[in-house]
Amino acid sequence: MKSNKDYWKTQDYTLHANFVSALAQEVMQDLAPQRGEKILDIGCGDGELGAFIMEQGATVLGIDSSSSFVEAARSRGVNTRIEDAQNIQFEDEFDAVFSNAALHWMPRQQQLITRVFHALKPGGRFVVEMGGDGNISLICRSLTEILAENGIDFAARNPWVFPTPDEQRKRLEKVGFNVIKCSLRKRPTPLPTNVRGWFDTFCNEILFDLSDTDRGEILSSMVERLRPLICASDGTWTVDYVRLNFVAIKP
Ligand code: BEZ
Repeated sequence: MKSNKDYWKTQDYTLHANFVSALAQEVMQDLAPQRGEKILDIGCGDGELGAFIMEQGATVLGIDSSSSFVEAARSRGVNTRIEDAQNIQFEDEFDAVFSNAALHWMPRQQQLITRVFHALKPGGRFVVEMGGDGNISLICRSLTEILAENGIDFAARNPWVFPTPDEQRKRLEKVGFNVIKCSLRKRPTPLPTNVRGWFDTFCNEILFDLSDTDRGEILSSMVERLRPLICASDGTWTVDYVRLNFVAIKP
C-alpha cells in the first residue's frame, strides 16, 4: 500500500537526521569529485552533499522524488529536478553517479542499476552508500510486532530494501559493471534528538492511512518497546544502522 504524497518535511530532517550528511565521509572519499566532472546525485535530499561536491569544482544535477527536498536543495544553489531515479533516461552523460542514504527507498533495484549504467559515460563510476542487510533490524522487528498487534502487516508496506553485498554485486555485474568495492559495516548511530523524531522524519509513509490518534498511539508504543533496546541511561538513542558501500565502474 502506498500513496503518492510527499511525506518529507525538511525541518524534521534538519532537526532529527542531521547526521545523514555529517557521516558521509566514506562515500565522499570513494567519490573523490574532480573539477570539471559532471555528477548525478540520486536522492539529493536537502542538497548539502551536492553543494559540497560543487565546491570541489564539479557540476551537479540532484534528483529526488520529494518536491520539498528539491526546493531545499535548489535554495542551496544545487541544480535539481523532481525525478524517480528508477526511471531516469540519460545516455552516456555523467562522469559519476553518486548516492548517499537513498537507494534503500527504491524497490526496483535492478531497473535502477540498469538506468544508472546507461546514464554513465564509459569509464564512469557509480558510488553509493545505502542501508544494507540487517539495517535498522531492531526498528523493523518492533514495527513488525506492534503493527501486527494492531492488525497491520508491516511486510506489506515496508518501503525499504537492504541488500547483502552479494545480492548487490550480482545486480551490478548483470548489467556489465566492474565492481571494485562492495562491503557491509555496522554503524550504530546516536540520534541528535530521539527515536520519536526519527519516526516522525522517516516513517510517515508507512502509517499514512491511519488517523493522527491511531498513528500517535502506535508510535508511542514503538518508543516504549525500543527504549530498553536502544536508549542508554543518559537518554541517548542509538539506531542500529548497517551501511552497504559500493563502487562500480562502467567499462
Ligand atoms: C537509512 O539511512 O538506513 C534509513 C533511514 C531511514 C529509514 C530507513 C533507513
